[in-house]
Amino acid sequence: MKLEVITLFPEMVEQIVAWGVVGRAAKNGLLEFGTRNPRDYATDVHRSVDGRPYGGGPGMVMQPEPLAACIRDVRRTLPQAKVLYLSPQGRVLDQAYAAELAALPELVLLCGRYEGVDERLVTCEVDAEISIGDYVLSGGEPAAMVVVDALARLLDGALGHRESAQQDSFSDGLLDCPHFTRPEVWEEQAIPAVLKSGDHKAIAAWRRQQSLGRTAERRPELLEQLKLNRQDQRLLDDYLSQRGVDQND
Ligand SMILES: C[S@@+](CC[C@H](N)C(=O)[O-])C[C@H]1O[C@@H](n2cnc3c(N)ncnc32)[C@H](O)[C@@H]1O
Repeated sequence: MKLEVITLFPEMVEQIVAWGVVGRAAKNGLLEFGTRNPRDYATDVHRSVDGRPYGGGPGMVMQPEPLAACIRDVRRTLPQAKVLYLSPQGRVLDQAYAAELAALPELVLLCGRYEGVDERLVTCEVDAEISIGDYVLSGGEPAAMVVVDALARLLDGALGHRESAQQDSFSDGLLDCPHFTRPEVWEEQAIPAVLKSGDHKAIAAWRRQQSLGRTAERRPELLEQLKLNRQDQRLLDDYLSQRGVDQND
């Protein structure tokens, strides 16, 4: 995947490919990552990219001309790219949306600053707006880094077998099960005995049950979207009855 981030703070966003899974994906050529600074497309001596808002009010607004010139330049090298504007008003990122984005060959992420970008630029050059949640950041850069991380780990070959994304939360609509490592007993807490049993079927059933149970307890609305088969329903019923939850409540 080829991905370009348009930002006034390229050094900040470039950190995302310096480390970990995303860094490895970039190093291995799964992710071709670049940044562009709209300031390089400003035409005045001060390299201005923002202006006072029409109608008055606080803050500044990112001007359309440098952003349009920048996006049009990027489109010359990434002609198939969708341009997404990071915005609290966009479609909220979730695992399914991350998977959709990870399947695209090219993507451009536009980071806003100040009060945001001139609406006419959004109308002309932006394919969709994307949000990382119902809160307001001071800039699109942290949001762009979240989007890049979430989709890069889904690129084919980005994760080793041990880190398979398929067992992560949300990939099958459920939260992940709890994980344990050495030591076997820590501060008087032993790991669940089944994990040491060597019985792969029992371990898989325990993990599935924990995923179902945790999802029911923590994110019941996710469970409501799934149709559980009889085996899953039994695992969940057992989990809840062990916890003393009356399912008719
Ligand atoms: C201070 S915000 C502007 C918020 C805008 N005035 C509004 O209320 O919709 C500046 C920039 O941060 C980014 N941003 C803020 N919150 C975001 C979120 N939840 N998801 C994605 N980007 C966000 C956007 O790029 C936005 O242009």
